[in-house]
Amino acid sequence: MEPIITVNGLEKAYASGHKALKGIDLEISRGEIFALLGPNGAGKTTLISIICGLVTATRGSVRVGGHDTVRDYKRARSLIGLVPQELHTDAFEPVRATVEFSRGLFGKRPDSGLVDGLLRDLSLWDKRDAKVRELSGGMKRRLMIAKALAHEPEVLFLDEPTAGVDVALRRDMWALVRRLRERGVTIILTTHYIEEAEEMADRVGVINKGELVLVEEKDALMRKLGKKELRLTLAEPLPGVPPGLADWKLELSADGRELRYGFDAKAERTGVPSLLARMRDLGVAFTDLETRQTSLEDIFVDLVGGKAA
Ligand SMILES: Nc1ncnc2c1ncn2[C@@H]1O[C@H](COP(=O)(O)OP(=O)(O)O)[C@@H](O)[C@H]1O
Ligand SMILES: [Mg+2]
Repeated sequence: MEPIITVNGLEKAYASGHKALKGIDLEISRGEIFALLGPNGAGKTTLISIICGLVTATRGSVRVGGHDTVRDYKRARSLIGLVPQELHTDAFEPVRATVEFSRGLFGKRPDSGLVDGLLRDLSLWDKRDAKVRELSGGMKRRLMIAKALAHEPEVLFLDEPTAGVDVALRRDMWALVRRLRERGVTIILTTHYIEEAEEMADRVGVINKGELVLVEEKDALMRKLGKKELRLTLAEPLPGVPPGLADWKLELSADGRELRYGFDAKAERTGVPSLLARMRDLGVAFTDLETRQTSLEDIFVDLVGGKAA
């Protein structure tokens, strides 16, 4: 099946000369949840904005549902719902009217059942007649989603949907995204929370400094993220890793005072208890122990050879 989104050789240099995207190729399958993960300034919003036709690319092309986003802008755009990173809403309009208006913008005929359903789904039903400016920040965010969905798009973009959002709303968002996916909506979300990608995504793309440095099935990425490192401070420095510990791939620090063991924290057998038992048997004493989680930052450093911001 043809991907719903195809991005080819996309480059963006802003007027300042800053290269925000440096040759992005990406395909998004129909019905998947794709998380675009990257630090601030990586180019996430730029990429989304180009796909949605809000920013012009310097080079390259994008097709949405087979339509070129420049030559066939209207048809491509009609397939897309966008919840932008920055909230901007019409302060004095009633909630329900703004959602109806969003639908109308795309030339869709009024459908009060659909609009009511969205308001209910997003826990905005009680507020349907309230003015937008009376809503809390979290409710405004829900409203942005209702507006983005009002014209029944096939693809929904959520740009940092949960940045600065409380835990309850974040859970609600995740549940909503899952329901939408069940209805066949393709979802692309950007985030800098690894937890969010873990919870939600089928596939994850990592973007850094305008380059897509990795695109992988979530499960495979999480296996990498599940790596931990055990560090043992030794009571006495060692000249080398003792042969009796050869079964564990250990590293000894240059000064011989620290043993390091990388393991998969999600594995059934981490090898940690058996390592500690063997060390005791061999009389290798340690005075301190710590474990550290491989973080997204570590992954970035791995991926971009220490050039990560
Ligand atoms: N309108 C703009 N003009 C000039 N530079 C911009 C503009 N928008 C974004 N940038 C720069 O492009 C880079 C990528 O920004 P952005 O796409 O917003 O990243 P992200 O969403 O991943 O935080 C950043 O260095 C940012 O400062
Ligand atoms: Mg952004």
